[in-house]
Amino acid sequence: MDVKQLNSVARAMVGPGKGILAADESSPTIKKRFDQINTESTEENRRVYRQMLFTTRGAEQYIGGVILFEETLGQMSDGNVPFPKLLQSKGMIPGIKVDKGAKALAGFPGETITEGLDGLRDRLEAYHEQGAAFAKWRAVIDIDAARGIPSRFAIEANAHALARYAALCQEAGLVPIVEPEVLMDGEHTIEQCQEVTEKVLVEVYRQLALHKVVLEGTLLKPNMVIAGKKCPTQANVKEVAVATAQTLLRTVPGAVPGVVFLSGGQSSEEATAHLNAINAMGRYPWEVSFSYGRALQAAPLQAWGGSPDNIEAGRNAFFKRAKLNGLARSGEYKSSMEAG
Ligand code: 13P
Repeated sequence: MDVKQLNSVARAMVGPGKGILAADESSPTIKKRFDQINTESTEENRRVYRQMLFTTRGAEQYIGGVILFEETLGQMSDGNVPFPKLLQSKGMIPGIKVDKGAKALAGFPGETITEGLDGLRDRLEAYHEQGAAFAKWRAVIDIDAARGIPSRFAIEANAHALARYAALCQEAGLVPIVEPEVLMDGEHTIEQCQEVTEKVLVEVYRQLALHKVVLEGTLLKPNMVIAGKKCPTQANVKEVAVATAQTLLRTVPGAVPGVVFLSGGQSSEEATAHLNAINAMGRYPWEVSFSYGRALQAAPLQAWGGSPDNIEAGRNAFFKRAKLNGLARSGEYKSSMEAG
């Protein structure tokens, strides 16, 4: 394992003003997104849509890495350039989602375990050859206090799988993005989210240590600390920023090069405002950045609407979100920038 190399890839993705585009929707998920714009989810439509994002001029100022789905890793641009090569040539590091999704955890109704470890070593070798420099694995933790969810067991099982994945990635020369997502679905309060997120992160770093994962060659992709969508009391931007920063400072070792948030169902504007507020509050041992899927793509997806006539409009919408999140990296974003 070349720790220096892993560390330099991790740091490049969260360089000044930069974050990550999560464009790794699985086939069922991208179909859901395309359904919203009445566009059929064919292999060609998915290729055209993602090409639109990847060929947005100037996006590389704000996007240091792009997470791809397996299908996209093997696709090419109109000019027959493989997407990983195209991204590399623009200075955006290509990576790959390697988990096989969250499945029901036997014996624990309502909880999930992420699958995909069997055969992962061989898959990672193949992805690396195709040009992937990093990988992503998403663990999912739900909160349903009335049912005792999350259980201690589900937290441990998911952290264990994340750590096994991360160790295999580093062995293969890929930077693991470690993503334990505490969902914002449900009625829980911001305090409940904070308590669960803290427990999850403590367990994740315990398991990473047990599995001998070198933290300098990883990135953490956590949820922000936020009230559940159905909670009657919603926290304001400042409260989310304070609770999130506190939770991360309590749990994430300083050896980690970067924390890159998922957006998890926040609106695009909320995700940017929250990131900005966290960065405006002070300095941290790690870079604090984004790895947004929906919060970077909702606007370009709508602007494109599946029409070849709207490619430029889609690119403009994507550029705007990338830029505003880039500004939020240093607390320079203002909501007035949303207009125009
Ligand atoms: P969202 O930002 O839409 O939550 O997606 C990020 C992601 O990659 C989830 O695994």
